[in-house]
Amino acid sequence: MAPIENSQSSKNIIVSGGARGIGRALSRYFLEAGHHVYIFDIDENELKYTTTVHLAKYHKAGKVESAICNLRDVNDIRDKVSTAANFFNNRIDVLISNGSIASPYWKEGRTMEDPETFDEWQAYIETNLTSPFAMSQACIPYMKSQISDSESGAQKVHGAGPCIIHIGSFRAHQSDPNQEGYAASKSGQLGLMHSMAISLGHLGIRVNLIAPGRIKVAHESKEGDEKGADWEGQVSEKDVDDHPTNRAGRPKDIADAALYLIQAGFVTGQDITVDGGALKKKN
Ligand SMILES: NC(=O)c1ccc[n+]([C@@H]2O[C@H](COP(=O)([O-])OP(=O)(O)OC[C@H]3O[C@@H](n4cnc5c(N)ncnc54)[C@H](O)[C@@H]3O)[C@@H](O)[C@H]2O)c1
Repeated sequence: MAPIENSQSSKNIIVSGGARGIGRALSRYFLEAGHHVYIFDIDENELKYTTTVHLAKYHKAGKVESAICNLRDVNDIRDKVSTAANFFNNRIDVLISNGSIASPYWKEGRTMEDPETFDEWQAYIETNLTSPFAMSQACIPYMKSQISDSESGAQKVHGAGPCIIHIGSFRAHQSDPNQEGYAASKSGQLGLMHSMAISLGHLGIRVNLIAPGRIKVAHESKEGDEKGADWEGQVSEKDVDDHPTNRAGRPKDIADAALYLIQAGFVTGQDITVDGGALKKKN
C-alpha cells in the first residue's frame, strides 16, 4: 500500500495494544475524527479482525494499518515503529502507549507471598513500564520538531505539536489487596510521564497520562461483536453507587480525553484521571 499523504489537521497516530478494549475504541474514534492510525498488538487473530473487519472501511481507504508486535521485545518495537513510520511518510504525530497487562490482580488468587508471583512481577514491569519507555524512545526521531532540533524550541511549533499519551490507571493512586505488580508498574509510568514531559519539551513533544477508572470493555472485541454485546449489558447497580457520575466508564470517555490532549498545546506533564469521580468518593 502506498504511504499516505497527510494534512495539517489529520494526525498520524500509533496505538499500542489496539486490537481490543480501550485501544480498539481509541483507534476507531481517531479514524472517525479524520486521523490515520497504526495499531500494534501481540494477539494476531484479534488484530487481524480489528484491522480488516471491524475497521474495514478505513482499512480499504488506506487510513489504518497494523503490525503484530510483542511489547516485551525492544527489537520488535524498533522494527515495527520503523514500519509504521514508513506508512506515515516518516512523520509520527501521536503515540498512544496503551498496550498493557490490564488485569490488576496476581493470577489464580495468589498473594505476593507466593514465589510464583515473581515471574508475573517481571511481566508487569516489562509490559506496562519498560514498553512505554521503549515505544517512546523508538518514536521520538519521527516526532521531534524539525525546526527546533538545533534551536531553542517548542514555541516554534505550530498548533498543538506532537504528543505522547500514556494510558495509566487509577491504580497508580489506590489499591485493593494483591495488586502490587500492576500498581507498581502504573505508578512507575507516572514518573516516566512527567520526566519525559520535562526532557522532551525542547523537541516540541508534549507528554501526558490518562488514568482510566473502571471502563467496561468486553464489547470492544471480536467475541463481543459476534455475540452482539454492548456496553449497557455490562453495567450493574454497584457501578451507579460507586461513581458520582452514576455510571461506569465507556471507552469513549478515554477517547474524549485523548482527543482533547492531542489538541491541547499548553498541556504537558499532566495525569488526567477519567474515573467518574470514584477516587474522590468516600466509601
Ligand atoms: N478497562 C479498565 O477498566 C482499565 C482501568 C484502568 C486502566 N486501564 C488501562 O487501559 C489500557 C487498556 O486496557 P483494556 O481494559 O482495554 O485492556 P485489554 O486487555 O482489553 O487490552 C489490552 C491490549 O494489550 C495487548 N497486549 C498485552 N500485552 C501485550 C504485549 N506484550 N505486546 C503487544 N500487545 C499486548 C492485548 O493483546 C490487548 O489487545 C491498559 O493500559 C490498562 O492498564 C484499563
